[in-house]
Amino acid sequence: IAEKTALKDRIRRLLKEREAVLVAHYYVDADLQDLAEETGGCVSDSLEMARFGRDHPAKTLVVAGVRFMGETAKILSPEKTILMPDLDATCSLDLGCPADEFAAFCDQHPDRTVVVYANTSAAVKARADWMVTSSIGLEIVKYLHDQGKKILWAPDRHLGSYIQKQTGADMLLWQGSCLVHDEFKGIELDLLRAEYPQAKVLVHPESPANVVAQADVVGSTTQLINAAQTMDATHFIVATDNGILHKMRMAAPGKTLIEAPTAGNSATCKSCAHCPWMAMNGLQNLADVLEATDGANEIFVDPEIGKQAKRAIDRMLDFAA
Ligand code: 13P
Ligand code: SF4
Repeated sequence: IAEKTALKDRIRRLLKEREAVLVAHYYVDADLQDLAEETGGCVSDSLEMARFGRDHPAKTLVVAGVRFMGETAKILSPEKTILMPDLDATCSLDLGCPADEFAAFCDQHPDRTVVVYANTSAAVKARADWMVTSSIGLEIVKYLHDQGKKILWAPDRHLGSYIQKQTGADMLLWQGSCLVHDEFKGIELDLLRAEYPQAKVLVHPESPANVVAQADVVGSTTQLINAAQTMDATHFIVATDNGILHKMRMAAPGKTLIEAPTAGNSATCKSCAHCPWMAMNGLQNLADVLEATDGANEIFVDPEIGKQAKRAIDRMLDFAA
């Protein structure tokens, strides 16, 4: 504990010295989330992280999350230094959508409006007309569908088919998935709901369709936390990365939060309910990256690709404004 306290003090001091601000996602270590809030940074979902980083006057942003979040921050603010505790922190959706294969897919369907999820590389975003996050994807696709557009969607197939069902839009889906949310199980959730009939079910839309179908609320991490806080219920079953429970407990004190069932402790479940890449962010590597003066762990995006990708991100941010 003494070591932890010393590391936190060191991070607070270094953030001040470097005039840096910490931007964290709800899935990272609870200590990092608390530090971000205490030091004037933010802890939020992907949309708000992007907006906060873009609007904050700090010259240096430290993004505690995964690589696409750091890249989005760099694309929106090329003049800022963007650091990450571990540059290898990636995402199965990003990995499952290589830019060259994606470009070939788009080339085969030139009549479609290309909408990509935030969880993609800068090069994939550069090929897109729109980028969306889980908090606003549904509204944006609805808007495009109302204009008669046909959509090419990538990479998350569960989020894509959820949006497709809700909007009735013509959507061609890339077949990617999140290795964490893919583990939530519909049949086991059904059994758990029978045990807690009074519980409301909160589901992130990266989950499989038979899990989403049982949800009382489907939404981004911020939207799920808000639901736990405001809904008139005492029990909630939560189907998303369990890193969210830290903030959810603070937002909804006294309410009972139950983790949705995954493939359980089976040997095949490598990442049940916690993202292995989000878990790469810790106090030690955060302190080290702030201490380093050699530019270690800085995020770079090719300026041409960044400029192209920014168009798709700006469209979303303007829509959200
Ligand atoms: P949110 O935008 O809902 O925070 O989701 C990001 C993410 O990676 C979920 O797995
Ligand atoms: Fe990617 Fe899933 Fe991890 Fe989110 S939880 S960063 S979607 S692998």
